[in-house]
Amino acid sequence: MPKLTINGKEVEVPEGTNLIEAAKAAGAEVPHYCYHPALSIAGQCRLCMVDIDKVPRPQIACNIQAAEGMVVHTETERVKETRRSMMEFHLINHPLDCPVCDQAGECFLQIYYMKHGLYDSRMTDEKVHKPKAVPLGPHVILDAERCILCSRCVRYCDEVTHTGELGIFHRGDQSEIGLFPGKTLENKYSGNVIDICPVGALTDRDFRFQVRVWYLDTAKSVCNGCARGCNIEVHTNKHRTHHNEGRRVARLKPRFNADVNKWWICDAGRYGFKWIDDKSRLAQPLHRAGAQATEVSWDRALPELVTTLQRTRPEEIGFLASPQMSNEDLWVLRRLAEQLGVRNIDFRVPPRAPGDEDNFLIRADKNPNSRGAELLGIGPGQGGLDAAGMLRAAREKQLKLLWVFHHDLWAAAWPEAEVLEALEGAETVVFQGTSSAGEVSARAHLVLPSAAYVECEGTFTNFEGRVQRFRTALTPPGEAWPDWMILSFVGKALGFQDPVFVAERSEQVFNALASTVPAFAGMTYRGIGDAGATVKA
Ligand code: SF4
Ligand code: SF4
Ligand code: FES
Repeated sequence: MPKLTINGKEVEVPEGTNLIEAAKAAGAEVPHYCYHPALSIAGQCRLCMVDIDKVPRPQIACNIQAAEGMVVHTETERVKETRRSMMEFHLINHPLDCPVCDQAGECFLQIYYMKHGLYDSRMTDEKVHKPKAVPLGPHVILDAERCILCSRCVRYCDEVTHTGELGIFHRGDQSEIGLFPGKTLENKYSGNVIDICPVGALTDRDFRFQVRVWYLDTAKSVCNGCARGCNIEVHTNKHRTHHNEGRRVARLKPRFNADVNKWWICDAGRYGFKWIDDKSRLAQPLHRAGAQATEVSWDRALPELVTTLQRTRPEEIGFLASPQMSNEDLWVLRRLAEQLGVRNIDFRVPPRAPGDEDNFLIRADKNPNSRGAELLGIGPGQGGLDAAGMLRAAREKQLKLLWVFHHDLWAAAWPEAEVLEALEGAETVVFQGTSSAGEVSARAHLVLPSAAYVECEGTFTNFEGRVQRFRTALTPPGEAWPDWMILSFVGKALGFQDPVFVAERSEQVFNALASTVPAFAGMTYRGIGDAGATVKA
């Protein structure tokens, strides 16, 4: 571990650390464009200059490794002048179209010009013009005039996705980013080039012109798109409700987690959020009698459900939980099942088609919390029925109350006719979920609206057993509530004494489950932190 001095401060860094990262450890920022910790060193932008004692000229910090006894200066007059010159060079042909650029507000040309440039432009000639608004693929659009040729996007496609769609073509001031002939930027992780492009050259076709970034709020979260549980930020538009076509979620961005997704997310996860603000969202409990569905208040829905539970024998009740539910939701459900004596409980519904998977991030299981459901013991008790068994029992009129959480059973591997027969066979079908779009919701006698994962907080356990927190980004629509809260109200109304039925915060539910379930022993909600914590094997 070499020890070196940066701006008079001594730091010790791991062998192989470059001077940009070493400076960061010493609390100094070295501006840079082409360096990215996930990519090879290109040494292309020349912005990361630093002075090193006993070296005659400033050097690029990205390509020099920290060495024992090195003395580095990041803010000498010579370094500042070199940076200013490099900024001027990068901006010579830049169109300066910030007012219509989606990157404005988070663009490193703007940020670094204000921090390290602040020169008066000497450019009087006509600028070089290049193609604008060129779609590179389904998600990414290129403005070649704004590109500073840092080559991050090219290296990403070569070194991370190994798909090699992009290259730098032509020479000198005519150089520009482009697609190789016959290629389209449509790999499963293409959206990440938008994040690593430090300027407004690569922008998001979905987010483009929807809302200015300074109106966005941010919450830390976890993608619910598959069992990986990539760490994300949810960017919401709450203050300009007429922007973004009225949708509250504007975009999802990756959040660095060295043990889960590093800097990346897949496109399916990145763009799979439109359901949150879809018109099909459930916002009010519904009571259905025959073809007649009526919106009702919770004051009517809950007593109706409680009465049905009270008058039905435990062996005639089935709970079909979902691996879309959080650990907290599932724990309250398990406690409710135990108190009621219900042994027919499961969460495994086989999908009609197997999910896609690769050896990078994407997992075949498209649920964020299957591992949590397993660890929390969501499965048939002694003599109880699994999911298929519950549907069979409903068809045979052995099961009177079927409570389905989130699943659209029409997307399951089971024949639709059999599912339909089961729903018609049960005396009471309760659907609890976020969307009215599925067939179970459309046929249930009682429909209970759930908050989406971005509208509440809690934890998911990913396929590797990492427990990760997601935070509240939005309020739920109408009278939708978090699943665990609905379940605890039911438990309380039934007169059960378990403390989870009077919990007010998901933290209390998590800490209760951690004190009971061995795999979670020793964990606390706060202790999980932003990076997550792993369950005991
Ligand atoms: S498009 Fe962006 S990431 Fe790619 S070379 Fe240009 S500036 Fe760099
Ligand atoms: S790999 Fe899975 S968890 Fe990660 S972004 Fe994609 S869908 Fe979401
Ligand atoms: S970051 Fe060092 S040359 Fe670009």
